[in-house]
Amino acid sequence: MYPFTTDTGIVRNRWYMAGFSSEITRQPMERTILGKPVALYRKEDGTPVAMYGLCPHRYFPLAKGRVRGDALVCGYHGFAFDADGKCIEVPSQNTGSGFCQPTYPIEERGPLCWIWMGDGDRCDPALIPPYSDFGLEQEGWRYSSENYFHLKGRSQLLVDNLLDLTHLPYVHHHIGGGGVMASPKLEESEGASLYQVLRRSKMPWDPFLELLFGKEAAYEGLADFRIVSDFYGPELIRTSMPVITTGAENSENPSELGALWIMHAITPETEHSTHYFGFAVRNFRHDSAELDEFQRQSDIKIRQQDVDAIEAVEERLDAASAVQRELLVKSDGPAVKVRRKIQAMLDAEAAPIMENA
Ligand code: FES
Ligand SMILES: [Fe+2]
Repeated sequence: MYPFTTDTGIVRNRWYMAGFSSEITRQPMERTILGKPVALYRKEDGTPVAMYGLCPHRYFPLAKGRVRGDALVCGYHGFAFDADGKCIEVPSQNTGSGFCQPTYPIEERGPLCWIWMGDGDRCDPALIPPYSDFGLEQEGWRYSSENYFHLKGRSQLLVDNLLDLTHLPYVHHHIGGGGVMASPKLEESEGASLYQVLRRSKMPWDPFLELLFGKEAAYEGLADFRIVSDFYGPELIRTSMPVITTGAENSENPSELGALWIMHAITPETEHSTHYFGFAVRNFRHDSAELDEFQRQSDIKIRQQDVDAIEAVEERLDAASAVQRELLVKSDGPAVKVRRKIQAMLDAEAAPIMENA
């Protein structure tokens, strides 16, 4: 499946984001994740539950039922399933059935809930993307602007988009300064994330920066402009932007204006559609409700522009790739490296498991 050599482009053995914590409540909701309908709800003590979403009796969507205590009660004939999936009640026979509905491990980390849809014996909560990396629990960082997008396109198109920032001045032309990403110097590394690319450039003061940092931060001339993209896995990418150092050219004591981390959690819904969870964290102007609102609006606009571009590609992709090979250029370097990492994950899952002799 494009752009991979495997039949599927979905890596199963990862923790994917199931939803924002705020979305999962005592009112069950259904979300298809990695091709499976999943009913999501909370127990009385607030713990989230993820259960296969179709009732085994007549395949009614369980999320259309209701939560009673810790159990999910089907809205068609009233079968009840406890939080472990055990069928504890069949009203027509005054007893349970002995059947167990599949459930999936789900873990809450601050404002995010992560689900494991892969092999049970490989499920390890230590593999959840490193919460502490995202400023979500540190002093001095503010979580803002969580937004959900349903993307009618394969998840890899979003990964490609996030690794190739030469689209900035074209897709997001309302943001000044995107042109500096046309041919920046790239520095690549592997650290906390599986792949990191740092783009450096020089940038004059700009109205977009003014909206972020305020008038008082304005500088003369050119400042360092850096965007760092971190690939944690096909489920999560962090774009750190902008981290501006004022007067880097002339000053002996350059200072950082602030860091804005734009987070992208990417959860395949099916092979051709994706749940895109966007949120942002910043370490400046914590008390500015005005900036919160600007960030929220800006976040929706920018991510929707990417969604629109990707959907236009997905619609045409199968037909187009059958007649013409994609043209890869120098700026595709980071995306191609990340594709290789994902291909290796897909190959590892496709390989037969070696039994111990
Ligand atoms: S379909 Fe759920 S109880 Fe009948
Ligand atoms: Fe974009």
